[in-house]
Amino acid sequence: LARGVAAPDLSGRHVVVSAGGTREPLDPVRFLGNRSSGKQGYALARTALARGARVTLIEANTGLPDPAGADIVRVGTAVQLREAVLKAAADADAVVMAAAVADFRPETYATGKIKKRDGHEPEPIALVRNPDILAEIAGGGTGERPRPGQVVVGFAAETDDVLANGRRKLRRKGCDLLVVNEVGERKTFGSEENEAVVLGADGTQTPVPHGPKDTLADLVWDLVVPRLDPSRR
Ligand code: CTP
Ligand code: CA
Repeated sequence: LARGVAAPDLSGRHVVVSAGGTREPLDPVRFLGNRSSGKQGYALARTALARGARVTLIEANTGLPDPAGADIVRVGTAVQLREAVLKAAADADAVVMAAAVADFRPETYATGKIKKRDGHEPEPIALVRNPDILAEIAGGGTGERPRPGQVVVGFAAETDDVLANGRRKLRRKGCDLLVVNEVGERKTFGSEENEAVVLGADGTQTPVPHGPKDTLADLVWDLVVPRLDPSRR
């Protein structure tokens, strides 16, 4: 579907998009991170702006240029991302969690650089679980949405049993839509293009053919728009 001038179907709406990947520090110079480029989240922010939305873009470690017109919040870690998302989500019509959130963080942070010592084995790194931001805003587990009427969208990268794992994840998180990517050696990370299927909590399943991340982003908004709360407009 070629879009000339985007329909302003998100005007009057506030949408929150998280993008990038969190980094969990071990010491002042090292972190646990992931390969998320942030490009899909930025495509979501750009396309939402083109469709008339007020956009809060919460970015973690992308290094990408700011999309003109978005409110940008920069974060580093999953805990910081959670704070920023909860704050921005308070008055949002839709929240899209495109960020890759580290599932674990080091249990302790060394305030000085960790040094190796001759004759000593390295210390194992103890990890603790990070909060599940998507499940928290989508009411996963409890079934209770903190903000009823808000549309909540998650992303999932799966390597095997993509659809079955995606369905399970959608239910566990409690979100309205889950964009499931198949990832592998050469797929998705850092690339300009994407291929996905969007699963809906209502049982719908929308395949997205291989194509630019902006196209997937517009398709996500196409699926969000009819789910928006008409009384909040
Ligand atoms: N997510 C989140 N907070 C976390 C982990 C993930 O908000 N601590 C969000 C991601 O932003 C994404 C979605 O949840 O939108 C799915 O992430 P994914 O890593 O696929 O899900 P997990 O529940 O962490 O499952 P897995 O064990 O497969 O990594
Ligand atoms: Ca995860």
